[in-house]
Amino acid sequence: MNKQKKQQDEKPRVFSGVQPTGILHIGNYIGALKVWVENQDLYDNIFCIVDLHAITIPEAINPKDLKQQVREVAAMYLACGIDPKKSTIFVQSEVPSHSELAWILNCVTPISWLEKMTQYKSKSGKQKTVNAGLLNYPVLMAADILLYETDIVPVGEDQKQHVELSRDIARRFNSLFGTTLKIPKSMIRKSGARIMGLDNPLQKMSKSAAIKKNDHAIMLTDSPEIIRKKISKAVTDANGEISFRKASPGVKNLLTIHETFSGKPTLEIEEYFKGKGYGFLKKEVAEVVINEIRPIQEKYFQILNDKPYLEKVLEQGKSRALGLSNIVLRNVKNQIGLS
Ligand code: TYM
Repeated sequence: MNKQKKQQDEKPRVFSGVQPTGILHIGNYIGALKVWVENQDLYDNIFCIVDLHAITIPEAINPKDLKQQVREVAAMYLACGIDPKKSTIFVQSEVPSHSELAWILNCVTPISWLEKMTQYKSKSGKQKTVNAGLLNYPVLMAADILLYETDIVPVGEDQKQHVELSRDIARRFNSLFGTTLKIPKSMIRKSGARIMGLDNPLQKMSKSAAIKKNDHAIMLTDSPEIIRKKISKAVTDANGEISFRKASPGVKNLLTIHETFSGKPTLEIEEYFKGKGYGFLKKEVAEVVINEIRPIQEKYFQILNDKPYLEKVLEQGKSRALGLSNIVLRNVKNQIGLS
């Protein structure tokens, strides 16, 4: 056993993923990728690009673009600081155990559990025809997590309910067929787990809203000029209060973005902005964001153009994911009586 593999095997395991449904925004970065990178040395990390989840809303995906979008997310993982020596990066559809376990778990998951999911209710409300994939989305997510004997799932707040469901599905399988699946826990940051839209601070910042409305989100590939412009237009209020507790949702969102990017304590931030106007706050927020994402953007375009490197990372990731996931899938099939 080589040294790197031995070290990986001894650490608790992290699993998480992002859908390749477009360029990532700072909500994805703060809620997920930044947390992954900050904790990378503590865990054996597995990060997936969940393209099978992306096709649950077929209208949002152009088949001609999907493969490129997968590569873009992989390049963004690496540019943000995910190190392939410490973390496994792979594409969900290249590891068939995910679909296979998802089918088995579908057979132990009551439909009523799925119909209660907040994300299903909001997404299905916007569709003319609701496909079964959208309802079963969290079962595939449970399969992703449970296949790797995951201990910890670092996600934004919107995914907490899905991780809870993965725990319920695992417990149900274990009680029906004997203890087989490890029960995972979510890891959600205290501040910044739900970054809101700049144009509407009552709505979560999302990739789908960003496609429809230009000033909704800061994308990780936005230029400094665009970032300054979008933040200068962010919705605030008329009361002029710059405080984490008393501010309106729009101002609180800007303060939270500042906090997560600058890493400064809230009291220090409040002191700094005391007596200042929203114009100043917006300028400062734009600068902390630009400072952190500028080097990420440079690496991102460099990596995206280095196809052989990207392919090598994904190939290595796939090989490890195939090996690990097959062990759990074999146990599950054995317990349930499948050959
Ligand atoms: P996706 O692509 O929608 O989101 C990727 C990650 O970004 C987080 N996130 C946010 N965090 C803070 N503020 C926001 N406005 C914001 N918007 C998104 C999400 O919580 C997520 O962590 N279902 C997953 C993908 C997935 C997955 C998994 C995750 C599939 N299988 C297994 C963990 C484990 C999702 O929401 O992707």
